[in-house]
Amino acid sequence: MKLIAATLAAAWATTAHALPSLPVAARQDSLTGSCPTSCDAKALGTALSKCAKVYYPGSSEFTRATTRWSVLATPQPQVVVIPCTEQDVAETYVGGGVKVKFANKKNVPFLAYNTAHGALTTLGAMDSGVEIFLENLSSVQVSADGKTATIGGGTMSKKVTDTLWAAGKQTVTGTCECVSYMGPALGGGHGWLQGHHGLISDQWVSLRVVLADGSIKTINRDSDLWWAMQGAGHNFGIVTSATVNIYDIVHSDWAVETLIFSGEKVEEVYAAVNEHLLKDGTQPVDIINWSYWLNNPDADPNNPIILFWILQEGVSVVDPIYSKPFYDIGPIVGTPTAGDYRDLAGWTGIDLAAGPCQKAGTINPRFPLYVEKYNITAQREAYDLFASKVSGTSPFSGSLFLFEGYSLQGVKAIDDKSTAYAFRGDNLLTAPLITYAPGGDALNAEAEALGNELRNIIHRGSGAANKAVYVNYAYGNENPKEWYGSDSWRQDKLKALKTKYDPKGKFSFYAPIA
Ligand SMILES: Cc1cc2nc3c(=O)[nH]c(=O)nc-3n(C[C@H](O)[C@H](O)[C@H](O)COP(=O)(O)OP(=O)(O)OC[C@H]3O[C@@H](n4cnc5c(N)ncnc54)[C@H](O)[C@@H]3O)c2cc1C
Ligand SMILES: *[C@@H]1O[C@H](CO)[C@@H](O)[C@H](O)[C@H]1NC(C)=O
Ligand SMILES: *[C@@H]1O[C@H](CO)[C@@H](O)[C@H](O)[C@H]1NC(C)=O
Ligand SMILES: *[C@@H]1O[C@H](CO)[C@@H](O)[C@H](O)[C@H]1NC(C)=O
Repeated sequence: MKLIAATLAAAWATTAHALPSLPVAARQDSLTGSCPTSCDAKALGTALSKCAKVYYPGSSEFTRATTRWSVLATPQPQVVVIPCTEQDVAETYVGGGVKVKFANKKNVPFLAYNTAHGALTTLGAMDSGVEIFLENLSSVQVSADGKTATIGGGTMSKKVTDTLWAAGKQTVTGTCECVSYMGPALGGGHGWLQGHHGLISDQWVSLRVVLADGSIKTINRDSDLWWAMQGAGHNFGIVTSATVNIYDIVHSDWAVETLIFSGEKVEEVYAAVNEHLLKDGTQPVDIINWSYWLNNPDADPNNPIILFWILQEGVSVVDPIYSKPFYDIGPIVGTPTAGDYRDLAGWTGIDLAAGPCQKAGTINPRFPLYVEKYNITAQREAYDLFASKVSGTSPFSGSLFLFEGYSLQGVKAIDDKSTAYAFRGDNLLTAPLITYAPGGDALNAEAEALGNELRNIIHRGSGAANKAVYVNYAYGNENPKEWYGSDSWRQDKLKALKTKYDPKGKFSFYAPIA
């Protein structure tokens, strides 16, 4: 595993260490401190609970609270509110207007910040506004009957997994330890256990939501908003907590085979995935396969390698039925590892200590596309372009091309029409992630052109008429039909609910419906 850990660390460090350090804190204001000259937070201060906090620019707390995972087209808050209760969230924007006033500004925008991995460029439209930073709404409470848990709207995935594990329970969460539970869920949400139970949002029993008018509502399947929250939830309110189904742990063991292939093997590897793993979308429920293309000069000094994982639940060694076809292709190295569910994030390089969990000042756009299966010709074409643009001294040398093959049974078992998440028919999530240090508009344009072209190659190969884009990985240059499905009934339904619940478009920064 050393080579692999080093590979991932190196890929993310390449660009990170070259960055300027973050501004050092100058001062820290609390509620009793003063706004910058242009704002007045008095009305807000008196309305919030005693344990709420307000931070202004120039303080280390403000810097910490506003630092994002990807720094392209970031929102620009001028005030940070850290609510301590759900009432604090409502008080911050009662009646659709925020209580903080800025000179010369009638409609002060506000935006929920959770773990700030959202990277859509549409977020950049939030300028001189109020950040509602949810980190204090962090809690996991298992119900007395052990069937559900209530998760605070600002809880990290790892806390959910660890707390439930200690109680002998599990639910579907995102895979990355440092990402919030709720951020991924609002767009559907992929996770290791989706093959058994469906998407993250498929587990919901009810939500507490602060709506655009400042009212606090319990939303469940009796509400017309329920459908929209499950896939387009960012557009409708701030979720302060979710009550979700939880399950007894059936298999604690997991095993992984980690294989590194040279780029010459692209055709063989993805043909074998289609044949032995994907099987026309009937991949076994206990199997997950992922691959990353990335530079690893130790394994191949000239071209990106294919880092390929086969993960299997309930075993201590991946069944050779699945792994042998890949060993037969001839990896540079292959490593079997055994552990339990909690090791999955570490194995795949997304635990708390890993590169993707650091906020290193880099720009990290992805250009996602769902597809049904791998088109071998397109994989080759994409690999060759990717290799030509990220090799050697390229500013994009830390980039990854992600191919995620989760198991699908639980996702497909749920009626496609029953949620705003529109892509239950697709099997694989692909996305180039072009990572680089900020370097100006021309470099941004170059990264965007590369990401678009890589996605277009995969799209042409898929034969699909429309692009199916996972909203949570989206770049920001896509449109609502690509994020939420091209069926006109989906678009009409979303627009009608938006008009009903958020007529002034207060929640229209993250992949806006219209
Ligand atoms: C390293 C990494 C790993 C990832 N792993 C996965 C994964 O395993 N599965 C998966 O499906 N996706 C994954 N994603 C994508 C992820 O779903 C999105 O990036 C998501 O937006 C991150 O949520 P966040 O809380 O970190 O982001 P934030 O930027 O804090 O939030 C994103 C947006 O969500 C909204 N929001 C957040 N919290 C709330 C709330 N409580 N109520 C209302 N609105 C809210 C706001 O509009 C906000 O702008 C991953 C992303 C990264 C960078
Ligand atoms: C929320 O903030 C209060 C006041 O600072 C603190 O006592 C409490 O521990 C915090 N809770 C969480 C879950 O962070
Ligand atoms: C990976 O998963 C996808 C989606 O289920 C599947 O189509 C593909 O065959 C799998 N590949 C491997 C190698 O398991
Ligand atoms: C695979 O992709 C190539 C290149 O875009 C395309 O010509 C071909 O038709 C695709 N094959 C299938 C089966 O869709």
